[in-house]
Amino acid sequence: MPSILLISGSPSVVSRSGSLLEYARRHFIAAGLTAHIAGLYDFPARELILGKYDSPAFDTLKDLLADASAVVVATPIYKAAYSGGLKTLLDILPQSALRGKTVLPLATGGSPGHQLAIDYALKPVLSALGATDLLQGVFASDHQLKVGTDGLPEFSDADLRTRFDNAVAQLTGIVTAPSPAI
Ligand SMILES: Cc1cc2nc3c(=O)[nH]c(=O)nc-3n(C[C@H](O)[C@H](O)[C@H](O)COP(=O)(O)O)c2cc1C
Repeated sequence: MPSILLISGSPSVVSRSGSLLEYARRHFIAAGLTAHIAGLYDFPARELILGKYDSPAFDTLKDLLADASAVVVATPIYKAAYSGGLKTLLDILPQSALRGKTVLPLATGGSPGHQLAIDYALKPVLSALGATDLLQGVFASDHQLKVGTDGLPEFSDADLRTRFDNAVAQLTGIVTAPSPAI
């Protein structure tokens, strides 16, 4: 069964970007896939900040990543880029950790003016980790969604919801497509 790893870069307990991941995770499970979310609270802050990439604290994450056909990376926009917390997580991954995997970037931000941060900030670091199959990505600004009491996103923008649903469906289609015969 194909597996998807969802990585959350938000330090917020109630997180808009995290709610998008939870929505996507439930979609993947309903489609018969295996899906796991890894977030900043799953790891010791000291190991993250100090870049202790060989710490056993990251063994499970590396195993999940190695097994994953696809990765969804979600971040809040901080200072016109991805969050520092996300960078600490990406920093501990092996150099070519995303090679051969389809990657969907997601971001939420207070200002629609920072939606290009996915392209100029997040995608380059994902490429540096070996990602070549990078999907377009989805940006949501804070006025377009809030987090419901169930932890799922409540969209106030139908176009955003459609774009997000399409991105999740695209990733599901790629992961579940039969392998070409050799
Ligand atoms: C320290 C900090 C810096 C931020 N910088 C930006 C920014 O430069 N541009 C922007 O659009 N939003 C910025 N924001 C707003 C967050 O990106 C936005 O509220 C986002 O949806 C939070 O996502 P989360 O709930 O998943 O943490 C910032 C928020 C914080 C706390």
